[in-house]
Amino acid sequence: TKNILQDTFGREHAYLRISLIERCNLRCSYCMPEEGVPLSPKRHLMTYEEIYDIAKTFVKHGVSKIRLTGGEPLVRKDFNVVLEKLASLPVELSITSNAVIIDKFIDILKTNGVKNLNISLDSLNRDKFKEITRRDNFEKVYNNILLLIKEGFNVKVNVVLMKGFNDNEIIDFIHFTKDLPISVRFIEFMPFDGNRWDMSKMVSYKDIMNHVFESFPETSVERLQDAPNDTSKNYKIKDFAGSFAIISSVTNPFCDSCNRLRLTANGQLKNCLFSATESDILGTLRAGKPIEPIIEKAVKAKFKVRGGMNTLEKLQEPERHNQNRSMITIGG
Ligand code: GTP
Ligand code: 5AD
Ligand code: SF4
Repeated sequence: TKNILQDTFGREHAYLRISLIERCNLRCSYCMPEEGVPLSPKRHLMTYEEIYDIAKTFVKHGVSKIRLTGGEPLVRKDFNVVLEKLASLPVELSITSNAVIIDKFIDILKTNGVKNLNISLDSLNRDKFKEITRRDNFEKVYNNILLLIKEGFNVKVNVVLMKGFNDNEIIDFIHFTKDLPISVRFIEFMPFDGNRWDMSKMVSYKDIMNHVFESFPETSVERLQDAPNDTSKNYKIKDFAGSFAIISSVTNPFCDSCNRLRLTANGQLKNCLFSATESDILGTLRAGKPIEPIIEKAVKAKFKVRGGMNTLEKLQEPERHNQNRSMITIGG
């Protein structure tokens, strides 16, 4: 079969991120507007059979890694069925979650071979956690992270940094890796519809490393080898059990090695996190037509860098942000 998942820049897309649901049990301000987002009517959302059918087509064309996202994927009522169906495909299955209820899913995750869990946690302070998520769930998330480690999962902790809010916790988060075998990833705040992004709120890769070098001697900070297609630049403090990393989508995009495609909960294919256009996979499937040509066309239309916002100037044009969705309905 011809390679429909290769784009015009030679990038192969072997990694599909599937958003299972638009709803979330938290309300993080960087991810969704205060008033919430209009939710798709249920009939417009993919059923588990449709998710499986679509995923199978991607796997047939070379996808070997699937990450389940949301909203919060674990809030989906038939999550277990979706997971079991997808686990029957020859792929590495991973999940990005806020971990609020993940303790109820330990067995099902293990049974279905899920090893990699990326968990969002933006503060180690209970009041700040509540302020950012608008929910008082810090202890649950914190304890669930410890539980996941104890149960042997590979855990990455995602921290979206915002200037004057949680950038004073960078060093605390790095100390969190002293005795725990986790990767803490600091993420540059990115613009999406309704999240009131502006560049001055972002903490850059460079800012982060400056904080690190103020607290740790240069000789104790090791640059690690990044995995191929990694979003992150990885580091560790000498003799610490875990590591830390920076996801610098704004100041140092990693689009050259991009291998990702995204399927939204309402069955639209996004060829980039920042894509302004979407391709209607679910509608095509429901019309009984083949989805391969739609997929191929979407992949061939992919821009080289950040959905066409190749400069910082373009990224800062506010009218571009509302051409994209809110993060809560993309899933990262
Ligand atoms: P791995 O599969 O472990 O590599 O995880 P990941 O970093 O791809 O995914 P995760 O869901 O943990 O997302 C962490 C952060 O990286 C989020 O802020 C995402 O929005 C961002 N991210 C994930 N994939 C991409 C991407 O393709 N492009 C950009 N610019 N950012 C991404
Ligand atoms: N900028 C950067 N990262 C974000 N995430 C959500 N919104 C943003 C944003 N505006 C992160 C979440 C989650 C991951 C999937 O995406 O923290 O960990
Ligand atoms: Fe890929 Fe778009 Fe992310 Fe760049 S911004 S790495 S092209 S998804």
